[in-house]
Amino acid sequence: MKVFIVYCHPSEDSFTKAMCDTFIEGVTDSGNEYILSDLYKMDFKTDMTEEEYLRDAYYKTSPDVAGDVLAEQKKINSSDAIVFIYPVFWTEAPAKLVGWFDRVWSYGFAYGEKTMKMLDKALILCSAGNSREKLEQSGLLDSMKKVMLGDRLFGRAKKTEFIVIDNTSRENEHREKNWDKNLQKVYEKGAALFL
Ligand SMILES: Cc1cc2nc3c(=O)[nH]c(=O)nc-3n(C[C@H](O)[C@H](O)[C@H](O)COP(=O)(O)O)c2cc1C
Repeated sequence: MKVFIVYCHPSEDSFTKAMCDTFIEGVTDSGNEYILSDLYKMDFKTDMTEEEYLRDAYYKTSPDVAGDVLAEQKKINSSDAIVFIYPVFWTEAPAKLVGWFDRVWSYGFAYGEKTMKMLDKALILCSAGNSREKLEQSGLLDSMKKVMLGDRLFGRAKKTEFIVIDNTSRENEHREKNWDKNLQKVYEKGAALFL
């Protein structure tokens, strides 16, 4: 089985990078394959052009989508699962990943007469500086889940899961304390992705 990993963090010096590396280890150790889009490394262009906007807004399938978008869509359609790995920025994915959705979820692929395949599984693996309790009490965790699972991934995968690893900001004592335990959890998620 093959998983397409969309990873989005501006720095290698990060817990999120460690999550991505560890998740990949879990995937490969369990005998599965992966493809990776590292959005910052690829310098993936995330602003829609006016032409792209008009194509999507008028529900048109022409002109053809741009080559970089088509490449991402092909990665999706050649995979069994998709996983998004990112840090929470202002209760959202980083702008670069949001822009990836703006362009890659194009008309005729992700909506309309869809050509996007129904994936077996979609997993969100994000890190957040705040504690889970704070995110739950404020309703922000629900908002993040709603946007990712209730909108972007809705009807596009048979199973969906949203995992937040909390307390990961640098000033938080739990970041270092829970580092190994959190990565172990991430490894196990990678190893059990297709079970
Ligand atoms: C610009 C920015 C915005 C952030 N916004 C949030 C937020 O809304 N909620 C939250 O829990 N953490 C927020 N954080 C904290 C990050 O999610 C946290 O620092 C990150 O997950 C730590 O992992 P890293 O070492 O991979 O960067 C923010 C961090 C930055 C830099």
